[in-house]
Amino acid sequence: MTSKKTSPFSRRSFVKSAAAGAGLAIVKPETVFGSNANSALQLGLIGCGGRGTHDAGQFIRTTNTQVVALADSFQDRLERSKNELDDRMKEKGRPSIDPGRLYKGMDAYKNLLASEVDAVIITSPPYYHPLHMEAAVEAGKHVYMEKPVSTDVFGAKRVIEAGKKAEGKVSVSVGFQIRYSESYQQIAKRIHQGDIGEIVSGMVNYHAGRLGNRSRPEASEVENRLRNWVFDIELSGDIIVEQNCHVIDVANWFLQSHPVKAYCTGGRKARTDVGNCWDHFIGAFSYPNGAIMDFSSSQFLKGWSDCRNRLFGTKGCADIAYSGKPRITGDNAFTVETEGNLTGSEENKISAFLESIHSGKFQNQALQGAESTLTSILGRIAAYNECEVTWDEMMKSDQKFDVKINI
Ligand SMILES: NC(=O)c1ccc[n+]([C@@H]2O[C@H](COP(=O)([O-])OP(=O)(O)OC[C@H]3O[C@@H](n4cnc5c(N)ncnc54)[C@H](O)[C@@H]3O)[C@@H](O)[C@H]2O)c1
Repeated sequence: MTSKKTSPFSRRSFVKSAAAGAGLAIVKPETVFGSNANSALQLGLIGCGGRGTHDAGQFIRTTNTQVVALADSFQDRLERSKNELDDRMKEKGRPSIDPGRLYKGMDAYKNLLASEVDAVIITSPPYYHPLHMEAAVEAGKHVYMEKPVSTDVFGAKRVIEAGKKAEGKVSVSVGFQIRYSESYQQIAKRIHQGDIGEIVSGMVNYHAGRLGNRSRPEASEVENRLRNWVFDIELSGDIIVEQNCHVIDVANWFLQSHPVKAYCTGGRKARTDVGNCWDHFIGAFSYPNGAIMDFSSSQFLKGWSDCRNRLFGTKGCADIAYSGKPRITGDNAFTVETEGNLTGSEENKISAFLESIHSGKFQNQALQGAESTLTSILGRIAAYNECEVTWDEMMKSDQKFDVKINI
């Protein structure tokens, strides 16, 4: 099953062999890895669906990392991901994944973490992120985990605690790749340097089409629940947490804080044939400096979408969406001369993650990722209760889901 040999690229063995070869008593991590972001890491993938296979493929395409182990609850997912990643590896002249390193089942992550990997990509359904991240940190693996960090308050707190344990030991990256978009960075820089003045209000929107139904007629109810996790509140967190967290994260980034309270409403009207998630949310987030963000989202639209952040300040406005020219208007007018505002963000994020490992200056996005997730959870709690909820009330609530899935 698992190769017991020490990975030639693992941090420990690399330090040891470099020290032996160079006759050095002490080798600083920076010296060992240098600044080359392409030193080959051995990667494991936990959750081998669409995003995980995509992320792992991006690592292979843009760096010389090797994907060596896969973990998933379903065999067909493991096989499909292996086939695709083997193709990517072949294109780069790298070995295919050893079939003995495909781990299946709800405990597959444990076997993968016990095998020789330096870092893990965590792309299981969000409900499992705290469990998988805690175990990865405990096992001393660098973590590249997709958003959101959890689906409940309890899980977000677990991620914050695991992040503290990771500090200075391993890197923790959380999948908010927009923060690595050059267009968004240009707008953020201008907001933060005061180009739009004091922020008074704004808009946070995520309007999108429906997602595909993955249930299988021959599968059991519990299997279909897991395959179709994106429509399940406890597994996904609902659309406000699972999907809308991207623009909510951008709002927190632009405003350099998280909200103190939220009011929200919404419902389930256009997409009632699957799961229990809502299909639209409308509300408002209040930030510590008094700025109010008008929030709305939907996940049923036909032929239209808009994922956007707008800020209205005393000197001007900032407007940026996934596509279209980002602009600052008013006293310090500025336009980013590009249309595809997410282009390059994933590559930049992967590069920063690897650089942090190679330099020994480990990044730690656990708290930031948890705060953006908790902001989304705040909106959800407010919406389900149709009332105003403060951050402090949410944190005290310690809301905890239990999906009770065992397949
Ligand atoms: N950053 C982005 O832009 C972006 C885009 C899409 C998805 N995502 C995130 O990536 C994650 C995965 O989304 P996806 O679209 O790939 O979903 P998916 O359903 O395609 O993949 C999830 C995989 O996890 C497996 N799985 C389920 N439970 C598991 C468990 N307990 N242990 C191991 N494997 C398990 C499933 O079988 C499936 O193969 C989610 O957190 C999602 O929000 C992020």
